[in-house]
Amino acid sequence: MRIIVATNNKGKAKEFKEVLSDISVEVLTLKDIGMVSDPEENGETFAENARIKAMDVYEKLKAAGEEKDTIVMADDSGLCIDFLGGEPGVKSARFMGHSTPYNEKNRAILDLLKGARDGDRGASFVCHVCTVLPDGRVIDAESEMRGSIAEEAKGGEGFGYDPIFYVPEYGKTGGELTPEEKNAVSHRGKVLRKVREFLCREMNL
Ligand code: IMP
Repeated sequence: MRIIVATNNKGKAKEFKEVLSDISVEVLTLKDIGMVSDPEENGETFAENARIKAMDVYEKLKAAGEEKDTIVMADDSGLCIDFLGGEPGVKSARFMGHSTPYNEKNRAILDLLKGARDGDRGASFVCHVCTVLPDGRVIDAESEMRGSIAEEAKGGEGFGYDPIFYVPEYGKTGGELTPEEKNAVSHRGKVLRKVREFLCREMNL
C-alpha cells in the first residue's frame, strides 16, 4: 500500500509527510511519482475542491492501471477572516494572484485589517481532506484551527499566511512555530490524524 498526496504545494506536502510518518506506508507526492495534476479548482467549498484534486489523480492512476494498493489524498485549505466576511477562504491561494509572493499578500491583509480592533481580528484556517481508496470509495474529513490575525507578520517557519496568523495556544504566529508545534494544533494536523485513525482501523495500515 502507498499514499499519494495530490498536491504541488511544498509546504503542504511536508506537513502530510510529517503527520503520516508513523504509519507503515510510503507517503509520496505528485513530484515523487512524476505525475502532473493541476485541475481547475472551480468548486465553491473546500470539500468540492479537495475532491476535484483527489479524483483527478485517482482517475489518472486508474487509466494507467496503477490505482491498486494506492490511497490518494488531497487537501483544500484556506484562511477565513471574520472581518472580511470569511475571505479569502477557498480563494486563499488565488488571493492577489497565484504568483504574488506571500510577504505581499500578508502585508495586504494586515492593511485590510488596519481598522479592526483585537476582538474583531478572529480567523480560522480550514483544511478539508478528501481520501480516495483503491476501490474508488471516497472519505471526507475537515478540521479547523481558530486564532486571529496578528498586528504584524512574524517568523519564517511554515508557509503561506502562517506569519500573520496568531495561534493562541502558543502566543505566537504560525510562522514562529516549530513544525511539531504547528502540526499538534493545526487544521491540517488535526484532520490528518482523523484520517490516519480511519485508515489504520479500516485498511489495517
Ligand atoms: P489550496 O488548498 O491549494 O487552494 O491552497 C490553500 C492556500 O491556503 C495555500 O496556498 C495558503 O495560501 C493557504 N493555507 C492553507 N493552509 C495553510 C497553512 O497551514 N499555513 C499558511 N497558509 C495556508
